This record gives sequence, structure tokens and C-alpha cells, in this order.
Amino acid sequence: MISSLQIKRQLNSISTSVLNGDSFDRNDYARKILNYPAMMVPSVQEPIIKTLIDALPENSTMIDPFMGASNTIITSMRYGINSFGQDINPLSLLISQVKTHIYSEDLKISFSNFKKRLSRARSEKIDVSFKNIDKWFKSEVQIELSQIRRLIIQEEDLFIRKFYWVTLAEVIRLTNNDRTSTFKMHVRTQEEIDNRNLSPKEYFEKICKRSINDIFEVKKKLIENDLLENDKYKYNVEVTWGDSKEKLNTDKKFNLLVTSPPYGDNHTTVTYGQFSYLPLQWIPVEDIDENISMNYLDVIQEIDSRSLGGKNISDYSTIEKELFRKSKTLKRFFKNFNSEERLKARKVVSFIYDLDTTIDNVLEKMMPNSFYAWTVGNRNVNNKEVENDKILTELLATKGIKNFTDLEREILSKRMPDKNNFSKTMSKEKILIYNS
Ligand SMILES: C[S@@+](CC[C@H](N)C(=O)[O-])C[C@H]1O[C@@H](n2cnc3c(N)ncnc32)[C@H](O)[C@@H]1O
Repeated sequence: MISSLQIKRQLNSISTSVLNGDSFDRNDYARKILNYPAMMVPSVQEPIIKTLIDALPENSTMIDPFMGASNTIITSMRYGINSFGQDINPLSLLISQVKTHIYSEDLKISFSNFKKRLSRARSEKIDVSFKNIDKWFKSEVQIELSQIRRLIIQEEDLFIRKFYWVTLAEVIRLTNNDRTSTFKMHVRTQEEIDNRNLSPKEYFEKICKRSINDIFEVKKKLIENDLLENDKYKYNVEVTWGDSKEKLNTDKKFNLLVTSPPYGDNHTTVTYGQFSYLPLQWIPVEDIDENISMNYLDVIQEIDSRSLGGKNISDYSTIEKELFRKSKTLKRFFKNFNSEERLKARKVVSFIYDLDTTIDNVLEKMMPNSFYAWTVGNRNVNNKEVENDKILTELLATKGIKNFTDLEREILSKRMPDKNNFSKTMSKEKILIYNS
């Protein structure tokens, strides 16, 4: 049995360049299938996950309550482990379903037929309509997207359809009139729109080809590590849709948590929901998951409002008392704001309150002697640092979870909104390891 000291030594010996993701291959782990915001870098997670899995008993189980593009899950799959992921964003679930699925050669056969049929598609019928569709999509783009969409619906195999839907989501990201430089929706100028002549059909074909390649590369690595049996992953992997501050949709117990929560409420940090709004208009919800009970297409802000810290709390005074007792760092941060600025500080309080509730839900699912790896970044609100790292450690300490060791990394290689001023001040991220 490996000692705590040895585990700590191994974690602390991970080189700075690995932690900074300097040498990571952008195609590895099928990471490029869809450019989801703020994705974790698998090569950074790899040595941490491997060290922690080695330190745990065989047949361990990992949980990620904020799975995003499921990079932690597919990284852990490479080490033969059971895992569970949950996210509130239906698009996150769709990517995760595709990335954790083991595809057979049928995918390649389907794509070769799809290509032929797509090249023959001529109909100018537009199949999707929603408020402001013409603001976000040129009509020729709507026509080609509809041609692709009709062919996807005709595909019989659900998981092949899911693959096409994810590809369509990436095509939509690249061909709509929204600026790709921010995750918040900002329409391009009319001149820019007029000058862009993009063919969704060409993009679709190119991205399908690349993603099929990436998916089979991931599969090859699993075969090399003897992790497949009858073309299925030998262990259990489950990805679900759900609000982790409400509950985690699993009866299983876990002894490893690897996650990266949002940096703050989505509205003022990374708007995962706005990023997903246009692609989700084109994808039938029943092909993602029939249990999704959220009217996420009603308004652009719906998903972001339901995410951590998205809603204002009705009774702040009780909650502040409770949270300030748990975290003196949060209390100190809050006291730095004068009464006119309080609204902004309260957004942080709402976020930490939701995070704290999620932690309680997660802890109910954890076994004794577990490891927890949290990747967190500190951001600024009104030029005052929100020390998410210290706040998290203090919250966990009140629940009997102790700090084991900390690692630090630069976040230059992570896909972040460069025009969003919250991240200008954020250059480092911490990977905080705890145990119980
Ligand atoms: C930093 S990302 C996770 C990155 C991910 N680990 C990866 O490798 O791509 C944070 C995720 O938290 C999700 N999230 C925010 N609030 C949530 C909630 N209440 N329940 C579940 N997921 C939530 C967001 O939708 C987003 O996908």
C-alpha cells in the first residue's frame, strides 16, 4: 500500500510544463469534437488522476458533478475506472454521451453514405424557426443546416445521430452570425456578415472526418490498455443531465472526485448557456435525453440562470451568517464592499452558497477515505480578488475534508473568453487535492 507521503511526493513532482499543458496534443482525447468553453486539459489531469487512482483500491469510482465536455471522465477511462458525470447544460450531456461511447465501424460506413446524400441535397426548405433566427443565421446557412438536419434525423442509430448532432453544434458555432471571440452572444456587424461566405455542408464534412479520426484514436488507446471487451468499455461510465445543487442522479458511491466548477456565476464569468443556445435550437431534445425537464430554449439566459449562482437569493441575511461562519475569507471579501457595491458582492455570495449546497450533495455520495481534486481559479470582482481556493478549503474543512496538497498552473492554454474582463486578471489556476 502506497503511503500518503509517497502520494504527495508523486503529485508534487509533476513538472510545471505538464501542469501548464505546454506539450499537450489538441486532438488527443477527442477534445476538438466541440469547442466547449473552459475545457480541462486532459494531459494536465492525466498524472493527477493516475496517481490518485493508483493510491485507491481497485475498482474505484470517480465523480464529476460539473462534467462540461467530460474531459476528466474520458481521461479517467484510460486508467480503467468507473465514472459518473453530471451537468446542467444539455449540450454538455450530448458531447459527453458521444465522447464516452465506443463507436463501431458502423459510424464510418454511415458517414460515407451521409456524405453522398448530403452532396445531392438541394431543397431550400428551412426546418427550424425561433425568435430572431434571421439575426443569427444567414438564410443560405439556414438552408444548408436544414439539409444536414434532415439527413441526421433519417439516421436510425441513436448514437450515430448523437455524433452528427455534436458535429452540427460545432458547425453552428462556426457559421452563425455570433462572434466566436466571446461566449456571450454578440452579433457581428452587417458588413462582416455580408462578407462571410461559409458553407455549413463543407464544415460538416470536414469536422465529421476529423472527429471520426479522433474518436477512433481514443478507442485505439483503450484497446492498447486492454480496456474494451466485445467493443464495450469494461467498466461503468454514466453521464447524466441534472442540476448538481439540487441532487446527483445516481445511487452509486464514489471514492474519487475530479472536477472543475465554474469560476463564478455564468452571467459574469463564462456563459456556458449562451454558448449553447444557438446549437440547441437545432437539436431535438429527445435525441439528447427525454428526462431533460428545462425549457432551455425559452430565453437566451435560461441555462445560465439555473447554473451555480445564477439566481438571487431571497433571504440573504440568514445565508450570509451561515456562510461567513464557514468561510472567514468570504466574510472578509464581502466586508470590503460598501453598501452601493453590495449587489456585486452578493452575486458572489449566491454562487458560493450554491457551491456549498452542491458540495453537501456530493459528500452524501462519497465513501470514507476518498480523494478530491478540485481545479479552481480566483477571479476579480470590482478589483477585489475572490479567493475561490481559500473559500473552498474553508468550506470543505467544516465538513471534515482536509487539504492534502496543492498544485498550481498557468491557464493560457485553456479556452477562455478573451474579451471578458473577468479573465484578464486571471492567469493561474490551482488544483487543490483533499482527502477524507
Ligand atoms: C469549468 S466547466 C467544467 C469543465 C469540465 N470539467 C471539462 O473538462 O470540460 C463547469 C461546468 O459546470 C456546469 N454547471 C454549472 N452549474 C451547474 C449546476 N448547478 N449543476 C451541474 N452543472 C453545472 C456548467 O454547465 C459547465 O459545463
